[in-house]
Amino acid sequence: MLDRYAVFGFPVAHSQSPFIHQAFAEQTGQRLVYDRRECAPDAFADSLRAWVDQPAEAAHLGPVRGCNVTMPFKFDALRLARQASDRAVLAGAANVLNFDTPGWSADNTDGAGLVQDLRDHEGLVLQGLHILLIGAGGAAAGVLGPLLDEGPQRLVVSNRTHAKAEALVQRHAAVAAASHTDLQALSPEQLPGAGTFDLVINASSTSLAGQAPPAPPQVLAEGCCAVDLVYGPSARVFLDWALHHGAARAIDGLGMLVAQAALAFEGWRGVRPQTAPVLAALRARLASPGAH
Ligand code: ATR
Repeated sequence: MLDRYAVFGFPVAHSQSPFIHQAFAEQTGQRLVYDRRECAPDAFADSLRAWVDQPAEAAHLGPVRGCNVTMPFKFDALRLARQASDRAVLAGAANVLNFDTPGWSADNTDGAGLVQDLRDHEGLVLQGLHILLIGAGGAAAGVLGPLLDEGPQRLVVSNRTHAKAEALVQRHAAVAAASHTDLQALSPEQLPGAGTFDLVINASSTSLAGQAPPAPPQVLAEGCCAVDLVYGPSARVFLDWALHHGAARAIDGLGMLVAQAALAFEGWRGVRPQTAPVLAALRARLASPGAH
């Protein structure tokens, strides 16, 4: 019998998670199926419970074991689980649910996925770096803790609405102290005089809106690395801007997507898939129109 998994979102038709998890399953010999499930924004909890409780429609299908959750349900996902990992609580959101645990357990693998992508796919060591994180919404909250865990020397959070950056920084004060990182919130107006950064991460939603990057070019250290948490053509506005102003490397969010999925898969199945071949296959798939 095949264990069942899915990704919940609204919209979810674009999600590459089924491709990624089926590839992991083939690679590791795990017997599972993985679908997309779209539900209306106010129907998440009911849809999820109905799916978990509903008997399988076919004899070859086994129990529902877990799911991924994408926007806008990551905050609700955390609230629906009786247990949650420390990193999910710190992020205030969950992208993974595990139904094997009584009452369900929630995790957030987004930030660890970003760190793993930068380390394993890009060869980047974050310890000692000066990092600028742009944005203070759900995406930024998901990555801040795991970035701090790597021990950067300085990490600045900057957001259009400064109070949100300050709140995020306050919530992570203990993590920053433990990793000896100088963690600060600076308003966009303060950024031109804030020095330069080795790693500049766009976690704002400007890319999805096709808008200009919400940071001045002075923040980019010569030869720095720019990262946008989204992937595909949307990421290019920020990444091309950074390359034009002195960044040496531009990394989109596709590697993070595969890495966060691998961490979720490992949590469910107890085996760690190799991410690099799946990332390469996914890039090729997205580059060929009509193939997805
Ligand atoms: P996500 O889950 O993608 O993080 P979100 O929680 O709505 O979505 O957060 C969006 C982030 O992008 C916020 O940091 C937002 O800034 P505000 O907190 O001021 O709203 C940021 N953002 C969106 N549009 C922006 C713009 N035009 N300029 C600067 N920042 C913007």
